[in-house]
Amino acid sequence: MLKNSQDPTKTSLDHSIFPLVPRDVMQKNGPNVLMSGDGLMVTNQHGETVLDMMSMTTRAGSLGYGNKEIAQAMYDQALTMPYSGAGINYNNAAAQLAKTLAEITPGRLSKVAFTSGGSEATETAIKIARHYQVQSGNKPAAYKVISRWNAYHGASMGALSCTDWLSVRDDPAVRVPGHSFVANPMCYRNPYGLDVETYTDVCIAHLERQIELEDPTLVAAFIGEPFQQANGVQIPLPRYWKTVREICNKYGIIMIVDEVITGFGRTGTWFASEQIDVEPDILNMAKSMAAGYAPIGAVITRPEIADAIEHFRHVHTYSGHAVCCAVAAKVIEIVDRDGLIERSAKLAKTWAADMQANFGDHPAVGDIRGRGFWQAVDFTSDRKTHAKPDPQMVLDIAERARALGVIVGPIGTAIELAPALTATADQLANCTHSLGQAIRDVAPKYKLV
Ligand SMILES: Cc1ncc(COP(=O)(O)O)c(C=O)c1O
Repeated sequence: MLKNSQDPTKTSLDHSIFPLVPRDVMQKNGPNVLMSGDGLMVTNQHGETVLDMMSMTTRAGSLGYGNKEIAQAMYDQALTMPYSGAGINYNNAAAQLAKTLAEITPGRLSKVAFTSGGSEATETAIKIARHYQVQSGNKPAAYKVISRWNAYHGASMGALSCTDWLSVRDDPAVRVPGHSFVANPMCYRNPYGLDVETYTDVCIAHLERQIELEDPTLVAAFIGEPFQQANGVQIPLPRYWKTVREICNKYGIIMIVDEVITGFGRTGTWFASEQIDVEPDILNMAKSMAAGYAPIGAVITRPEIADAIEHFRHVHTYSGHAVCCAVAAKVIEIVDRDGLIERSAKLAKTWAADMQANFGDHPAVGDIRGRGFWQAVDFTSDRKTHAKPDPQMVLDIAERARALGVIVGPIGTAIELAPALTATADQLANCTHSLGQAIRDVAPKYKLV
């Protein structure tokens, strides 16, 4: 008879391959094994209960822990029809969810392919773009994909090949052929120390130059996150995406907007595409789609793109898994019914202002920015020049905040905050207080007082 170990720390160390964290660090510190949660509060194997401001670490848990309505929806669907492979045998939960997604995504997006997560969404989007270019006859030889510096689009080989972040590539990396990168817009700090208007021009010019370099007849798609995650919630100038849209139109390139993080209310609207005010050709989603209760992702595209593909040669065993689709449908219903997007967008304004008042003037803090419940505090070692901070300082601040009872997300030069959309005003205030304390405790060690 198989027995559960009584010691989650030892069992994890003995039997798990841990992503992202080096083995010696994991052996030394041990994993943080989450045992139970309620709302935004989560308890680990040592009985410590803390405020989770990162939505289950990955920004996916947009409705917090212990949601009974979601658990019930899973149970009901599992009893009725748990799963059917996607293809000839579709299932009703997937069909209904696809219709709902068509209603909440912007513009003419209305044809859905399901996946089990964000990386598969990237793979699927790239394949749709290539199939479209070839099968429509528009660009019969097109296979190339352009993405951006610091992009994260996933860990599987195609997605990895348009990724430049999180050290997930082998060194030296062999990419899938045909992937290249252009400059990504950043407003607070950029690699050349240019003012934001000039740097935005550089990013745009780089894209057009790269298309020419790669040969426009061979470029199938461009992919980007509407607000990039790297170094904390990068919000480009409004003209950036509008111009990218024009360039994609000019060269017949499929524009894929990766909303795996930003989708389902994370930034104060259902999708960030509403805020960048362009209609993507393909929109990728995952994470908050099922609020962390089930693995699911999807891509949605316009009918004329989907319909030009006579035969979509692509499948994943669990595409459109009925239980996952039922969970996503329930999540969307709750977010909509409880007005959580409007509520979080409103609370975020006070929250951002409070952070500004509490630690916005601190010498270690360069910029506080974000949209909705996706905020970032970007650090610096020099407020005048915006010089990058010592990366260890950011990690130390996050660790100190954790010791003070709040989980935050260090991400390069910044700390990211992405609480569940159900976070209360008190919880946001608690986060502001603890993070401010952590900054004041740690920064003096780095001679920033
Ligand atoms: C923008 C973006 N795209 C894709 C992915 C990959 O998603 P997954 O980890 O579900 O495969 C992520 C994950 O963090 C992401 O942030």
